[in-house]
Order: sequence, then structure tokens, then C-alpha cells
Amino acid sequence: MQETPILDTLPTHLAVIMDGNGRWATERGLPRVAGHRKGAEAVRKLVRYCADLGIPNLTVFAFSSENWQRPAHEVSLLLELFVQMLDKEVRSLHKNGIRFRVLGDISRFPQKIQQRIGKAQQLTASNTKLCLNIAASYGGRWDITQACRSIAESVSAGLLDAEQITEGLLQSCLSTESSPDPDLFIRTGGERRISNFLLWQLAYAELYFVDDLWPDFDERSLLVALTWFSSRQRRFGMTREQLQAAGSGGNA
Ligand code: IPE
Ligand code: IPE
Ligand code: MG
Repeated sequence: MQETPILDTLPTHLAVIMDGNGRWATERGLPRVAGHRKGAEAVRKLVRYCADLGIPNLTVFAFSSENWQRPAHEVSLLLELFVQMLDKEVRSLHKNGIRFRVLGDISRFPQKIQQRIGKAQQLTASNTKLCLNIAASYGGRWDITQACRSIAESVSAGLLDAEQITEGLLQSCLSTESSPDPDLFIRTGGERRISNFLLWQLAYAELYFVDDLWPDFDERSLLVALTWFSSRQRRFGMTREQLQAAGSGGNA
């Protein structure tokens, strides 16, 4: 690991849209899947950097609910890569104290993959070094909808009154459950959009967009993003003066 600059504040939850795998491959005259393979290596490294730095929560967007519309061969290759990752990486994640969770509508995955996900989640459930969330078959709208459905079921079963529905309750029914909201969001690949990622949870995240394509995103790129994050003043609707009076300048 290269020398780490002094970072005053690290995010407690980093959320990443890993975009640009296809373009990375096309630029090199390679099939898109080659970009996804290279992208998978970049994720593996990112997990290691975050664990080494002490970032406790990392959520990466691997496959969106809208990505099901891609050509069937690309979808099946992405699923294959996902299974390979499960087979190869889960043991070492566990050894390194990393909790593994999949966020998303996994009922759309083949049964066998669902079982493997369940096993990996169970195996790593009590690890605390880093919580790694892989958002797969995930959409922010799906997440809010499934939370509303589970609350509605409790109301109709007579377990809950409508007046007891609070922001906190809805938050706890989202797939991220008790994780803190992401405080830093990074999107590679040059697009300035959220593409139905963690819509509710990103309410106050610092948004960082970078033109690098995902397979090129390395430790140096992460450190640049983290340095930018640590210079942000996070005001949460308050004034600069209020924060100064309370002895907290946000991050900065
Ligand atoms: C992101 O890279 C990975 C997935 C969406 C699965 P893309 O595949 O979207 O790459 P580009 O944006 O086409 O370059
Ligand atoms: C967002 O990337 C989803 C993932 C990185 C998994 P997309 O490439 O699917 O996003 P759009 O289509 O450009 O908005
Ligand atoms: Mg893309």
C-alpha cells in the first residue's frame, strides 16, 4: 500500500456506482465482458483498501434492476462472474472479518445462486471489520417499495398503527437496515446521475463524480476522492455559523 495522506475524516459508509466497464473494453477492441472481468478485479482491490483504511461500510452497485434489460448474453455473463466471485472470494472475505450482504431483489436470480448468497451471508453475518454490501438486481425504487409493502403488511395484520410509521421505521425496513446512510458517493465513468441507486439513503451524501472508467479506478483515485470528502463542510441544513458555534465544522 502506498503512503496514505492524512485524512481528517473518513466516510462511515462509502457507496460506489462502478460504471464504465463496457467502454473500457470497447476502447481496447475487447468484448464488454472483458471490461466486467477487469472491473471485478477493481472491486476486490477496493474492498481491501477500505478494510485497510478502516471504512466500516461499503456498498457497490454491481447490477441494477434496469440492467436486466441488457442483451441476454451480457446478463448471463454478469451472473457467471457473480457466481465465480461468490465461490472464490467469500472464504477470504470471511477470513478477513468482512461481512458480506447482497442488497436487491434476489428472487429474480436462479435458485442455486439464491442459496449460495444465503450461505455466504450466514457464514459472514457476525463479522465486524467491514460490511460489504453488493447491490445486485437492486433499484432504489424497488427498495422503498419493498419497505412500504412490509410496513403495510404489519398494519393490515394489526401489529402496527399508521401513526407509528416514521422515517426511522421506514429506514429500518430498507435493505440497508441498520447501516448508517452513505456519507460519500462515488460514480466513475463520467455520468452525473444516480441511476436508481440508494435513493432514500443518499439524501445527504457528498456526491463525487469522476471521469475514470471503473477498471482504472485504483487506490490513488480513492485517496483523491477521500481527500475531497474530508474537505467538505457537511451542514445538514444548518448554517456555517451554527456549526462553528457547536464546535464542529462538518468535515472541514
Ligand atoms: C458498469 O459498467 C457495470 C454494470 C452496469 C454491470 P457498464 O457495463 O455500464 O459500462 P459502460 O457504462 O457501458 O461503459
Ligand atoms: C448503473 O450503471 C448501474 C451499475 C453500475 C450497476 P448503468 O450503466 O446501468 O447506468 P445508466 O444506464 O448509464 O444510467
Ligand atoms: Mg454504464
